[in-house]
Amino acid sequence: MRSRRSILYVPGSDPHKMEKAADSGADSVCLDLEDGVAENRKDEARGLIEKALANLDFGGSERLVRLNAFSTGRTELDLKAVLRGKPDGIVLPKVVDAGEVVKIDAMLENAEKQYPGGGYRIALIVIVESAMGILNLREICRASSRLQAVIFGSEDFLVSIGARRTESGTEVLYARSAIVVTTAAFGLQAIDLVQFNFKDLEILEEESRQGCAMGFSGKQIIHPAQIAPVQNAFTPSAEEISQALEIVQHAEAYQAQGRGAFAMGEMMVDAPVIKRAENVLARARAAGVISQT
Ligand code: COA
Ligand code: MG
Repeated sequence: MRSRRSILYVPGSDPHKMEKAADSGADSVCLDLEDGVAENRKDEARGLIEKALANLDFGGSERLVRLNAFSTGRTELDLKAVLRGKPDGIVLPKVVDAGEVVKIDAMLENAEKQYPGGGYRIALIVIVESAMGILNLREICRASSRLQAVIFGSEDFLVSIGARRTESGTEVLYARSAIVVTTAAFGLQAIDLVQFNFKDLEILEEESRQGCAMGFSGKQIIHPAQIAPVQNAFTPSAEEISQALEIVQHAEAYQAQGRGAFAMGEMMVDAPVIKRAENVLARARAAGVISQT
């Protein structure tokens, strides 16, 4: 699966920001038709996104489009308009149950059939942002083989449980953990909440490191200044990589001698530690900081 350390939202009603996002180097750029766009510009944004997809060079960035939720009645027409620009993936917000995933999956399958040759496969990412969505996570995660990642939408979630945002973040801890654990069980990526204070990069760095340590694959962002700190936090450091390489090399030698557990410096290494080191190397490879072999 491709690396999604950062997913940068851009209002689909703003051509200048879409141009900047195309050139930003974010792993994924998400052209937005939902909450970043004013009600009276939603129709116009469909056309602007179609144009941006057709005319801008996004380099290595993934081209995602966030549609309006099924509850708005806009989803089908949103999809129809933006598909003309052949996005890499679709983000469906406010997903509450598996039925919605099955429905969007069928719509995307149908859209792919319009392209002969079978070479066009549209990725699906869903946003879970309600108490009911968290309760239904397991069914949501197994509803479509097209699903690659689940995003946590913290603000709508807080409204749905009647909580207030605090500095410690305890009010979102359960939902974040539920998303990490359930997506991991189904081999999907988990994408962490947005840090709305886009001027304070220190808070962002800390929150990103915490999300990475919890098991998230990446984080949603709203401003280009957030790209570098977030992508750095979700990329294994040179030190982590060299330690992981050392563990894997030692493990091979010890395994050949018939030993599953061994000491490396002051640390005991056994199967889960080796697996974690392999995960670090896989993330480093996906982020392009070490070679694929
Ligand atoms: N994508 C691409 N470019 C962006 C951007 C984004 N999300 N946010 C800001 N920029 C650009 C600005 O256009 C500006 O470009 P310029 O220097 O060429 O004029 C530059 O980055 C600096 O922006 P800045 O002046 O610091 O911010 P702003 O006041 O223009 O915008 C926000 C602040 C919060 C309105 C803006 O970042 C934004 O719209 N973010 C996305 C919001 C969103 O999508 N919300 C829904 C999902 S949670
Ligand atoms: Mg939301």
